[in-house]
Parts: sequence; structure tokens; C-alpha cells
Amino acid sequence: MAVRDDGKHPSVRLDYATMLEPLGSDLWFADGGIVSFKGFDYPTRMVIVRLADGGLWLWSPVARTTALEDEVRALGPVRHIVSPNKLHYLFLGEWQAAFPDARLWATAATVARHADLHFFGTLADDPPAEWSGQIDQFYFTNSPFMDEVIFFHRASRTAIIADLSQTFTETFLKRHWPWWMRPVARLSKMVEGQGYPPIDYRISFRHRASARPKIRALIEKHPEHVVVAHGEIVRTGGEAFRRPPRTAARHSARRGSVRSAPPRRPHPESRGSGPRT
Ligand SMILES: [Fe+2]
Repeated sequence: MAVRDDGKHPSVRLDYATMLEPLGSDLWFADGGIVSFKGFDYPTRMVIVRLADGGLWLWSPVARTTALEDEVRALGPVRHIVSPNKLHYLFLGEWQAAFPDARLWATAATVARHADLHFFGTLADDPPAEWSGQIDQFYFTNSPFMDEVIFFHRASRTAIIADLSQTFTETFLKRHWPWWMRPVARLSKMVEGQGYPPIDYRISFRHRASARPKIRALIEKHPEHVVVAHGEIVRTGGEAFRRPPRTAARHSARRGSVRSAPPRRPHPESRGSGPRT
């Protein structure tokens, strides 16, 4: 696939081999290629949840390859394809083409921007009946430039976050960002162990009081795992979310961000194997 990074639309590099990796009960993730957007490289990641009826729920799908599609098919029938925010749309069409019976879901902003895609429904705070009681939703509309649904998969106790928490590893930054751009990630705290969203997202975040109850409700779910689209996964100890005030909860609420704990087990990137590209 050749998509030019024109500053408006992401480009993607597909020189990688993707594998599904289990993380918790009926939840898997797969790392995708590197997407470039506005001059910055981002790692990508998708999540697959198997719902109680055996159907699969695909979150923020990465570039579809034959190998990845085969692995997904082996898990069960794909019933839902989910976009968490308007920047995560690039691969929706190709997955829907591969699974034409799957229902495509996104926030209202994404639906409005992509008349070429055939959405089944819009996402907000209340989960649709299709996965209500299994996956919770927390819808943040506080930035005029971005809205996002954070998901929580109850069976695996996994928080699933696209852009509201970014946790680039130092290894990734050194490989993919020029030296003079790396301080942007560090100063913006978009690195592992800190997990802030991009600075433009934070600056534009308004009406924070409306976000606090949602962040609190997510913390009170006691996540064990935290999967982000861009960066390090918190594989265990997501309980940092539930630490009382002055740490994760109040700190995050004050900034309108959702922070994640330092990982206890390094991601393959940190072990020097590099992103699966
Ligand atoms: Fe993103």
C-alpha cells in the first residue's frame, strides 16, 4: 500500500509480519506497521475480543495482511469492526471488504467524515446491545479536534485506549524519530511510564469536569491490562489506574488524560527486536 503522508492523511509502511498475541481472557492484540502522520511515525496496534456468542470484535484494525486475516479467521467469525476516534479509520474499509457481514461502528465524527464507508451505528457512552455487559465505553468529547471512546473489556479487565494515552518506548523513538523530534515526545510525556496524549489534544481539552467521572469510573473497573494503540502495553498491574488521589486518578483527571503505569514486563520493542515491521 502506498499512501502519501500529505499532512492530512496517514501513510503506512507494511514491511512487517503480524502475529496475534493473547493478553487476557478472550482478548488478543496484533501490532501493525508504522504509520506516518504530519511527519511523525507511529506504531500501530489492533485488539481482538471474542464476545460471549463467539463473534469477534475488532478494535482499530491495522493494515490487513493475508497472514493476519488468517489468524483472525481462526478465532471465530468477525461480527464487529470498531473505530475509537476519527484518526483511526485508515484500514476500516479493507477489513470490512474482507468481512462484509461485520458491522462497522465509529463515533459520530468519524461517520460524518467517511461517506465511502458503510457504518452500522455510532458509538458514545452507552455500549450497543451487541456487546453491552461485556465491553464498557467511556466517551470523551472534550476536545473540538478529537473525540474518543475508551473501551473496557470486563472478562480480561483490559482498558483499550487509542490516542488518549500514548506510551512510546525509547527504542521506538530512537529508531523512528530524528533526534531533534524526540524531545517532543518526552516533553509531551507521550512515553512509557507517563502515557499522556499529544500536546495539541491536551491543550484543546475543555470541560474537564465532565471527563473526571468517566476517568474515575474506568479506574474503578480495576484494569489489569492497558492496551494502547501507540506504544507500550501495561501487561500486568493496570491497577495503577485505581491508585487513590495524588497519583493516577487525580493527576489524570486534572489533565484530562488517562495515564498508565510503567510496564512490569518489557514489550518486544524494548528487548531490541524492534517493531514488527
Ligand atoms: Fe492514534
